[in-house]
Amino acid sequence: FRREHALAQAEIGIIGGSGLYNMPGLTDVHEEKISTPFGDPSETFVLGTLEGRKVAFLARHGKGHRILPTELNFRANIYAMKSLGVTSILSVSAVGSLKEEHKPTDFVIPDQFIDRTFARESTFFGEGVVGHVAFGDPVCPIVAKVFADACAEVGVVGKLGGTYVCMEGPQFSTKAESKLYRSWGADIIGMTNLQEAKLAREAEISYATLAMVTDYDCWHESHDAVTVDQVIAVMHQNSENAQKVVKAAVKLMPADLSASPAQTAAKFAIMTDRSVIP
Ligand code: ADE
Repeated sequence: FRREHALAQAEIGIIGGSGLYNMPGLTDVHEEKISTPFGDPSETFVLGTLEGRKVAFLARHGKGHRILPTELNFRANIYAMKSLGVTSILSVSAVGSLKEEHKPTDFVIPDQFIDRTFARESTFFGEGVVGHVAFGDPVCPIVAKVFADACAEVGVVGKLGGTYVCMEGPQFSTKAESKLYRSWGADIIGMTNLQEAKLAREAEISYATLAMVTDYDCWHESHDAVTVDQVIAVMHQNSENAQKVVKAAVKLMPADLSASPAQTAAKFAIMTDRSVIP
């Protein structure tokens, strides 16, 4: 994707997960259906202005929550963000807690991922172009700090750092799996954010996730194992906080992200001899 093809329609992308299907407070709103070489994104984009910044909102699972994590077209979602001109993405998602200290309604801003997915397209490379981006630090530290500062401003718990296990789903984990992830020192578990982080990095978009803890998964002796009802109840109780944090984060996002590791990620990634790339 060539930068000069971007439309400059939006600067900041917002991906709303379970519990964040819209973003109140947008002005100059219009919807846009974006097509990509990878197919259709999850939903039409809602473009508008928030805190004086041009934003593009996407409901990750579509309106009415119709798309399974495995069915998500992550490449179309991130490609569409890039084509709109987005340089940073604020992603929001519901997660289970793998540690006592992360309580339902807390927010965690993970800085590491463990990949337990196996049925997803998660690169823009291939088909004759071989590329490997650096991914030791998979989250943009600038955007992550913006989320943490936004949580502080809103007055909610927002822990900066932590390891997110990304599982395939759609079934929740077994107890043996949940205990294994705890033994690895992981903090939270979800089903969607790693592919977004990988593709955003390849697309040179600075990305971080605001993970809302909704449950203790199935490892906790004194809590029932996670159910959808429980996830939805906490999400509803807490979605206003998530919206407030995103709004504050948009306000705090620096205009200049040139220091972000994401912004030059693809520059040194390509192994293929440029003379053979069509
Ligand atoms: N999303 C919310 N809670 C979850 C859990 N316990 N496991 C995986 N994804 C989740």
